[in-house]
Amino acid sequence: MAESILIVSGKGGVGKSVIAANLGAALASAGRSTVIIDADIGLRSQDTLLGLENLVVYDLIDAVNKECTISEALHDCPSCPGLKLLPASQFARVRDLDRNRFRKMINTLKQDYEYILIDAPAGIEKGFRNLLNAQPDRVLLVTTPDQLCIRDAERAAQVIEAKQLPRPELIVNRLENELIRRKEMLSARVIADTLDLPLAGEIPDDPVVYRSVLRNSLFINYDCEARLAVLRIAERLHGSMIPFPEIGKQRITLRQRLFPRIPKEVTPLDRH
Ligand SMILES: Nc1ncnc2c1ncn2[C@@H]1O[C@H](COP(=O)(O)OP(=O)(O)OP(=O)(O)O)[C@@H](O)[C@H]1O
Ligand SMILES: [Mg+2]
Repeated sequence: MAESILIVSGKGGVGKSVIAANLGAALASAGRSTVIIDADIGLRSQDTLLGLENLVVYDLIDAVNKECTISEALHDCPSCPGLKLLPASQFARVRDLDRNRFRKMINTLKQDYEYILIDAPAGIEKGFRNLLNAQPDRVLLVTTPDQLCIRDAERAAQVIEAKQLPRPELIVNRLENELIRRKEMLSARVIADTLDLPLAGEIPDDPVVYRSVLRNSLFINYDCEARLAVLRIAERLHGSMIPFPEIGKQRITLRQRLFPRIPKEVTPLDRH
């Protein structure tokens, strides 16, 4: 059954967009038809992340306002066959998005695609609330392990609960194994328990994420820890009981310290 999944956060800059792009690519690579909707109106990023910069013709607002057909606004992602992007409008405002038409458009997309991932703007203001009115089937709430971010995630979870939407599932991003081991950082499990939310994924802080963004490519195309983390989340979304590695429990050997893994390019399906 098709699912619409809204990806939100309290604080901005926690990794929603890179997670949405790579999760979408992971799902599409596994043969699950997926659309990413960039709903960060005015501040789009998915076109760059997915290698579509300067190729966008029609966008989300055009499609919702019926200035084009939905298929005209759906762009094929060159970096990931099978993945489609509905880009955000660069010059529109959040208020230009008609919530009822948007909801209908998502229902239409659900007839043709298995997963509709919606990349939300940061915060709990109008743009975010508009998207909650689209009644997504699932909500992924992204946070980093720092206290300010966790506090804002809690606030976002309260707003989501007040709208009587499904309980958000938590993704904790940018975890540092060594800091957790030294008890200088909270683990994903502790954060999920504190927020009383189910854990959907834990993603390490990984320099390959930054490097892939620099290259306008996806980190799931590289052999790295973040890639494995996102592939696990994709499998969990699909209902598999994939265990959590529990970042912070791993002991780094001297050999790993001396010879860190050099990321190499791989295609996502190589490792399946
Ligand atoms: N796991 C990670 N390891 C290292 N860097 C990361 C990780 N996740 C995200 N980043 C860095 O954080 C930056 C911001 O990520 P991103 O744009 O996805 O955040 P966002 O939550 O969508 O921001 P906004 O709220 O502004 O939309 C990325 O460019 C990337 O360099
Ligand atoms: Mg973003």
